[in-house]
Amino acid sequence: MSPMKQVLSVIGTGYLGATHAACMSSLGFTVIGIDTDPGKIEQLSKGELPFYEPGLDELLRTEVASGRLTFTTDFSAAAKADIHFICVGTPQKAGSLAADLTYVEGAVAAIAPHLKAGSLVVGKSTVPVGTAQKLLAQLSITAPQADLAWNPEFLREGFAVEDTLRPNRLVVGVTNDRAEEILKQVYAPILELKTPWIRADLPTAELVKVAANSFLATKISFINAMAEVCEAAGGDVTVLAQAIGYDPRIGNRFLQAGIGFGGGCLPKDIRAFMARAEELGAKQALEFLREIDAINLRARQRVIDLVRGELSDDLSLYSIAILGAAFKPDSDDVRDSPALDIAAQLSAAGANVTVHDPKAMPNAKKRFPALNFAPDAKNCVAGSDLVLHLTEWREYRDLNPTELFATVKNAIVIDGRNALDRDKWIAAGWKFHALGRTNA
Ligand code: UGA
Repeated sequence: MSPMKQVLSVIGTGYLGATHAACMSSLGFTVIGIDTDPGKIEQLSKGELPFYEPGLDELLRTEVASGRLTFTTDFSAAAKADIHFICVGTPQKAGSLAADLTYVEGAVAAIAPHLKAGSLVVGKSTVPVGTAQKLLAQLSITAPQADLAWNPEFLREGFAVEDTLRPNRLVVGVTNDRAEEILKQVYAPILELKTPWIRADLPTAELVKVAANSFLATKISFINAMAEVCEAAGGDVTVLAQAIGYDPRIGNRFLQAGIGFGGGCLPKDIRAFMARAEELGAKQALEFLREIDAINLRARQRVIDLVRGELSDDLSLYSIAILGAAFKPDSDDVRDSPALDIAAQLSAAGANVTVHDPKAMPNAKKRFPALNFAPDAKNCVAGSDLVLHLTEWREYRDLNPTELFATVKNAIVIDGRNALDRDKWIAAGWKFHALGRTNA
């Protein structure tokens, strides 16, 4: 069958699934997105994206209008497809470090009765190593006519379309040549861009994903540990990062010191990796990730300590302005957001906290309705005793500190992302703090 004649289904139309579905449709495939959430499916069917992601809204609209991309809550629609991408979430289990596999297992069980002979189920969700083998064993009973492969996803929020259509590598875990061949055909337009192709076995493909995220988390916590040492020794972590980053073996990316990593991936992935290693009897190998997690959470605490040091232990007397709620810029995602966590902790400690974010306020409001929200950055800052810059949106870097100075009670700013122009803020009269940079 010609590859473009193949019909694809995408199970789970959250962040990963909606992006994958729209991108595969843009490559010319007929794509059916399936999800259990009727609200989400209704929105997507109208070409409306239920979250913010630059460039994906236009792509979704175009692909839905083309007629190639459709959405449904009916799992029997999978019967029309030849290849099925599993893109459901694997959140952290309540009360445990491990990943919750309910959705992955549920998705595979739901499509099993509808699988045609020769069809291929392709897992993209991030799962503990060993999951794919287990699912394949289940399919061999419930749908022996189908095969299973694992194809981890490395897309970053904010760059989801670019990372899907022009990834820096494609990794496929397969148990036979036929499955590899099918996936090579599906990704042919991407392979034409000379994208490296890595064939692996199932456990290695699963491990590549969590190893990559663990490495990234380690890099961030490494520089945040250096920030702590710089603070103790009177150094400047931004200069240190720049200097070590020129060594190509180290590289300058992911060395931005600040309040650390959050989001729906890095924190839960390193925890689930530790939990799985323990089950496998390899606990000691990943003990260091416990420290990576601890350094990361400590960065949030260091900001709160700095605030208390500047104001007082009784925060109920003060108004604090927080710029940023998303876990990173160009996203409206507040899952495990360091910015929102700090906002909530300061509010719980009695401070009058006002938050602004260009895109994430509706999600932040849903999570913490008791916080105050300001319509824009200037309103957020006005009348405050202290300003915290916690998500490095471009518009915050463009703020005029001289103009803001005139509107605040106390001109104190803490840059939790090392992204503001310190000299400019100091020249405008502000007392300026940043993690890992002493004010000397
Ligand atoms: C991450 C990975 O980068 C993707 O490759 C992966 O596909 C994805 O998880 C996933 O598993 O699905 P993402 O969660 O979108 O992507 O965000 P990142 O760009 O990795 O940023 C994670 C966090 O680290 C953010 O809170 C960011 O502010 C923080 N960060 C990043 C730093 O504190 N310092 C840095 O130098 C870089």
